Amino acid sequence: MTSTISVFGVGKVGITLISAMLNKNMRVIGVDKNKTLLDDIKNKNYNSDEPGVQKILNKKIELLTVTNKTSLAIKKTDFSFVIVPTNSNDLGGFSNKYIIQVLKSISKAIKEKKTYHTISIVSTIIPGSSEFELIPLVEKISGKKANRDFGFCYNPSFIAQGEIMKGIVTPDYVLIGENSKKSGKITEKVHKKILKENVPIVKMNCTEAEITKIASNTHETMRVSFANMLAQICNEMPETNVDSVTNALSFRLGKRFFKGAVPYGGPCWPRDNIALSGVLNSVNLDDTIPRVVDSYNLWHGDKIIELISKKLNKSSSVGVIGLAYKVGTNLIDKSFSLKICNKLSPKVKSIVGYDPLASSNFKSEFNSSIFKIANDIEECFKNDICIIVQPINGLEKINYLKYKSTVIFDLWRVIPEKTSKKINHYFGFGISINKNKNYKRKRNILKLTK
Ligand SMILES: NC(=O)c1ccc[n+]([C@@H]2O[C@H](COP(=O)([O-])OP(=O)(O)OC[C@H]3O[C@@H](n4cnc5c(N)ncnc54)[C@H](O)[C@@H]3O)[C@@H](O)[C@H]2O)c1
Repeated sequence: MTSTISVFGVGKVGITLISAMLNKNMRVIGVDKNKTLLDDIKNKNYNSDEPGVQKILNKKIELLTVTNKTSLAIKKTDFSFVIVPTNSNDLGGFSNKYIIQVLKSISKAIKEKKTYHTISIVSTIIPGSSEFELIPLVEKISGKKANRDFGFCYNPSFIAQGEIMKGIVTPDYVLIGENSKKSGKITEKVHKKILKENVPIVKMNCTEAEITKIASNTHETMRVSFANMLAQICNEMPETNVDSVTNALSFRLGKRFFKGAVPYGGPCWPRDNIALSGVLNSVNLDDTIPRVVDSYNLWHGDKIIELISKKLNKSSSVGVIGLAYKVGTNLIDKSFSLKICNKLSPKVKSIVGYDPLASSNFKSEFNSSIFKIANDIEECFKNDICIIVQPINGLEKINYLKYKSTVIFDLWRVIPEKTSKKINHYFGFGISINKNKNYKRKRNILKLTK
C-alpha cells in the first residue's frame, strides 16, 4: 500500500482531515471540482477559520498536492476518503448525487488499476446507501468485485463546527462500517496514524454504521429537546430553576447535550430527524419520535419568542447577542437569532446584533433596514431589550448593573444568580419568575392530584 492518501472533497471537513494527516507527515492528494479553491490552496491564498487547520497548512503545505484529476489521484494512492456534500432532498433524505459523481470517476480509474484500492465514504448518508447503491455502482463501472478487488467502508466523522480537528484527532470513537475485514483493517490503519492514543475503533457492517451515524445525531437532538422541555416547565412552575433539575439528572444521564436553552440549529442536526423520519417511513415504520423532536424544536423557539414579544412594542430597540447557530462558528444556518430577528423585525423600531465570528454572514442573510451590526458587545445592552441568544465570550466582563433600564433575556442563564438578582429587569429563561403564592395555574395542577 502506498503511504499517500487521496481525499475527494476539500471542503470544511476535507481540509481538516487533510491537515490532520499532513500534521503526521503523511502525503495527501486533495481532489475537488472547485478550481478556485484548488488555485487558492496552491497559491497559499487559502484561509481556514477552523481552529488548528491554518497553522498546519502553512507549515506542511509541501506534502499536499491538489488537483481536479481523479485518475492521477487514484493512480498515486491506494486509499481514498470521499467527503462531498450530501444535500437534503425533497423527501427529507440526503442526496448521494455528488458521491455518485465522485464514485463514477473513481470507478473508471480503478478499472485501469492492478492493485487493491480502498474507498472510505465520510459524508453523512441514508442507511442502505452503501449496500443498495454505492457498492453496486463501483462494481458495475469498474468491472471489479467488492472485497476481492477493491475495499469499501462507510466511515463518518462525529464532528462539530469550530471543533472539526478535535473530532478527527480525538473523537469519542472511530466508526468503521466495513464491507470486508480487509477494507476495515486498512481504514483502521489510516486512522491510527492520525488519532491520539486510546481512541476506541468500532467496526460493523456498512448499513449498521449508517444507522449508527444518523442515530447519534438524532439522539443528541432528543436530549437537547428534553432539556429544553424541562426549561419550559421550570420557566413556568413557580420558584424553579432548570439547572437544578438537569444538574441532578446528569449524575444518572450524563451532562452532554443536556442544558435547557435555545432550540438547536446548524447545517446537520435539524435535517437529521427529518431524514430519520423518511427512513422509517420508507420501511413502513412509525416515525413519531424523530418527527416530534423536530416539531418540538420549532415550537420551543416560537414559545421563547412569544415570551420576549410580551416585553416589546413598536418603539422598542433590541440588542441580540450571538448570531451564529452556536458559539465558535460563523455559520448561521437555522440560527435562532435569525428566527428571532425575522419574527421581531416587523414589531420593533431597531435591532442591533453582535457576534465575534458570524456578523458578516448574518448581515448578508438578514438585510433589514432596521438592523445593524454592533461595534461591540456593550452596544447590545444599550437598548430597551437585550437578548443573550448564545453564551459568547466577553459576557463575563460586562458590568450588568450599569444597564438599569434594559430588559435582559438571558436564554442560557450566563449571568450569575448573585448578579442577576440585582438587575432590575432580568429574565433568565428556565428560571421561573412566578411565585408559589397566587400562581394562576395552581388550580389546573391540583386537578391532577385528585
Ligand atoms: N461540516 C460538518 O460539520 C459536518 C459534520 C458531519 C458530517 N458532515 C458531512 O461531511 C460532508 C461534507 O461536508 P463539508 O462541510 O466539508 O462540505 P463542504 O461543502 O464544505 O465541502 C464539500 C466539498 O466537496 C466538493 N465537491 C462536491 N462535488 C464534488 C465532486 N463531484 N468532485 C470533487 N469535489 C466535489 C465541493 O467543491 C466542496 O469543496 C457532508 O456530507 C456532511 O454531511 C459535515
